[in-house]
Amino acid sequence: MKFFIDTANLAQIKEAHELGILDGVTTNPSLMAKEGVKGKEAVMQHYKTICEMVDGDISAEVISTDFDGMIAEGKELVKIHKNIVVKVPMIKDGIKAIKWFTENGIKTNCTLVFSAGQAILAAKAGATYVSPFIGRIDDGGWDGIDLIHQIRQIFSVQGFNTEILAASIRNPNHIIKCAEAGADVCTCPLDSILGLLKHPLTDIGLAKFLEDAKKFA
Ligand code: E4P
Repeated sequence: MKFFIDTANLAQIKEAHELGILDGVTTNPSLMAKEGVKGKEAVMQHYKTICEMVDGDISAEVISTDFDGMIAEGKELVKIHKNIVVKVPMIKDGIKAIKWFTENGIKTNCTLVFSAGQAILAAKAGATYVSPFIGRIDDGGWDGIDLIHQIRQIFSVQGFNTEILAASIRNPNHIIKCAEAGADVCTCPLDSILGLLKHPLTDIGLAKFLEDAKKFA
């Protein structure tokens, strides 16, 4: 399973990258706004900086909701860097746009996916990635991991090549469950990635080893 970081924060991207386990980055308009990036030039420059930091797929989301607008935006975005993946919302014009991008050799990430039916449509249109939002599904009282299992089953049976990019991750256990369910990629906040490091027995064990090492230092 590939690890992407789900942020537009450059310090967090750098920290995850320095761990040596980072395969890519996802952003969205809310994450860009959180970093105070303002204006088209600044947004484009921010994506460029991220692309120069991490050698992997970098999702940049369109904000148009009509076919022509999405195509125009996507064409601009892919000029920034060869690793840009155009992130397109799961709406009717989004599916048409994904089909167009696919036919024109441009990678896409279909975002805001909450059902298996939506995932099938994205795959049929040729999306490179489909992004089911695990955390937001859990927030509503359903089970996001069930959806990953269901999409994995469908994609395997049907032979779809679209990669399952588990998104809206809230904690380390989500990452573990996504790995179990066969997600191809997990895009995670830095805290959830770092949470995977933690176990109290590791801390206790290390303290004891260091204490004992003093006996022969
Ligand atoms: C990533 O591609 C998604 O935009 C993101 O994971 C959404 O996460 P959230 O539900 O925490 O906003």
